[in-house]
Amino acid sequence: MNTVLDAIEKRRSVRSYESKEIPKDILNTIIEAGNQAPSAMNSQPWRFVVVEDSAMKKKLLQAALPNAKKILEQVKDTDPERYELIMKRYDEMEDPVYYSAPAIIFVIGSGRYADHSCPLACENIMLAAHSLGLGTCWVGFGSMVTEDAGVKGSLALKDDEKIFGPIVIGYPEVYPDPPAKKPPEVKRV
Ligand SMILES: Cc1cc2nc3c(=O)[nH]c(=O)nc-3n(C[C@H](O)[C@H](O)[C@H](O)COP(=O)(O)O)c2cc1C
Repeated sequence: MNTVLDAIEKRRSVRSYESKEIPKDILNTIIEAGNQAPSAMNSQPWRFVVVEDSAMKKKLLQAALPNAKKILEQVKDTDPERYELIMKRYDEMEDPVYYSAPAIIFVIGSGRYADHSCPLACENIMLAAHSLGLGTCWVGFGSMVTEDAGVKGSLALKDDEKIFGPIVIGYPEVYPDPPAKKPPEVKRV
């Protein structure tokens, strides 16, 4: 099978990781793949912050968790089944936001082209990681850390910058079954 199509089909959001460290050269290769993504006007409006330090990961979790719970309360009414599923995860896991992944990649973007371009760098990262036997998950809840001055300082996040992802990454402990996907809605004219 075509290896690109295979990676696109088999990549999953992984939410359980081995504690095994990711070799530096492999992480560099994956970030380089992110950097190769298309960007408007070839602006490459991104930079990458890789967090592996456990004290920093703890700070991130403390900053993100209350915000994640607030958002989840809103899901309670609109999608009670999903809410129950996620709350179960929150009760059972030590780190239900970043899934205790060995590394977290913050894709940080700025400028008029960031919104369209940075997610492409994120997808390249996720597909490249998959092709190298690693799992990833884009954790939007993990980006809700910007009210914390300490975290903001550690990420050197400027006022005109925005977090995309972050992408948690590591060797999967459990590889999930594919979720149901709707068929594409296509109109030919
Ligand atoms: C913008 C965005 C935000 C997401 N945020 C989260 C998140 O906070 N936590 C999480 O576990 N998964 C998150 N995901 C992963 C989705 O839940 C996942 O992509 C979706 O359920 C489909 O599963 P798949 O990636 O295995 O195909 C996010 C994905 C995207 C694209």
